[in-house]
Amino acid sequence: MTAISLRNISKSYGDHLPVLRAVNLDIDQHEFCVFLGPSGCGKSTLLRLLAGLEDLSAGELHIGGQRMNHVQPAARGVAMVFQSYALFPHMSVFENIAFGLRIAKVADAEIRRRVAAAACVLQIEALLERRPRALSGGQRQRVAIGRAMVREPKVFLFDEPLSNLDATLRSQTRIEIGRLHQRFAQASSVYVTHDQVEAMTLADKIVLLRAGEDMTRQGSIAQIGTPLDLYHRPKNIFCAGFIGSPRMNFLPARVLAASVSGLEIQLLNSGEILVLPGSRPMPEGAAVTLGIRPEHLTMNASHAEGPRLSLTRDVVYAEQLGEMTYVHLESPGANPLLAKEPGSSSVRAGERHKFFFSTASCHVFDETGDAVTSIGNRS
Ligand SMILES: Nc1ncnc2c1ncn2[C@@H]1O[C@H](COP(=O)(O)OP(=O)(O)OP(=O)(O)O)[C@@H](O)[C@H]1O
Ligand SMILES: [Mg+2]
Repeated sequence: MTAISLRNISKSYGDHLPVLRAVNLDIDQHEFCVFLGPSGCGKSTLLRLLAGLEDLSAGELHIGGQRMNHVQPAARGVAMVFQSYALFPHMSVFENIAFGLRIAKVADAEIRRRVAAAACVLQIEALLERRPRALSGGQRQRVAIGRAMVREPKVFLFDEPLSNLDATLRSQTRIEIGRLHQRFAQASSVYVTHDQVEAMTLADKIVLLRAGEDMTRQGSIAQIGTPLDLYHRPKNIFCAGFIGSPRMNFLPARVLAASVSGLEIQLLNSGEILVLPGSRPMPEGAAVTLGIRPEHLTMNASHAEGPRLSLTRDVVYAEQLGEMTYVHLESPGANPLLAKEPGSSSVRAGERHKFFFSTASCHVFDETGDAVTSIGNRS
């Protein structure tokens, strides 16, 4: 069931260029939807539009089947958790959590029941009498989540709730948020982040947003899909470069021949010719970009499944991380290529090696950045 529907939504501040354009999106009941994208692409703005903290410049917003364009924030059935927890320093944890309910004139007994239930889920029962300054960052963030929970919203809105926490707490709290979401069968969650690990691990659905000229020309949404859709089948070069860490290698190339039965390309700088299965017709000479993820370039031929190709390159640098080795490869006239070898590789700078990749892991993008083939068919 659709919980939130956004139709042709755009947002500009004053006479400035639009911040968001042509946003069309459905979020289902109990779905965990993540807005992901670079700084400034409008993630927080989109969340604030859902919350009613900003007015839409154009478009239609429905929550729970009701048109929300001009509905007050408090009447939308949403609760927001911010990056800065914004707790009241002079109030106890209990009163911080209860604050919204007191404003809404909820009866005392009901407030006590809801705060106790939230504190139990969040495991902060022992902290209810403390002031926020006597809490750790992770505990403060839990109080902020508790404040949203007691309102029993239809939709939880999270704006980078983990970015003030250190690395260990981040991953713990991330898991807590995922588990909390699972407990609330009726509620949907919308979560803003620029951290792709958070997005990949929490999301049922990722909405990847873009900024700048591409946003103005093609709308804010670069791609919508499951985390693995975006990883295996990026629709455009922006998505391909944004999802995956370290990022995908891009090699400039030109088309020698292109038809539904195959694509023959020549890499611009090295002159190597590669033949890939399946394409769409494109004129000879058309500029394309070949994309290969570092984890799909391997020195061990048997690790590249099915039909495979190879590139022979000089190693310029090797970084040993224990569980893997990042092997940096010379790539004349382009950014260095990166291969991610499992384990501790004995490869050394100055050596020349063959790096294999399966044709199924290749991505090809046309001059406008749209995927021509995204053959990665694993799921
Ligand atoms: N009140 C405002 N008036 C004018 N411009 C604004 C206002 N709020 C935000 N913007 C602009 O809108 C754009 C999007 O801002 P937004 O905060 O939504 O980005 P974001 O994707 O959340 O970025 P970040 O990852 O840095 O938090 C930015 O260019 C920002 O400068
Ligand atoms: Mg933001």
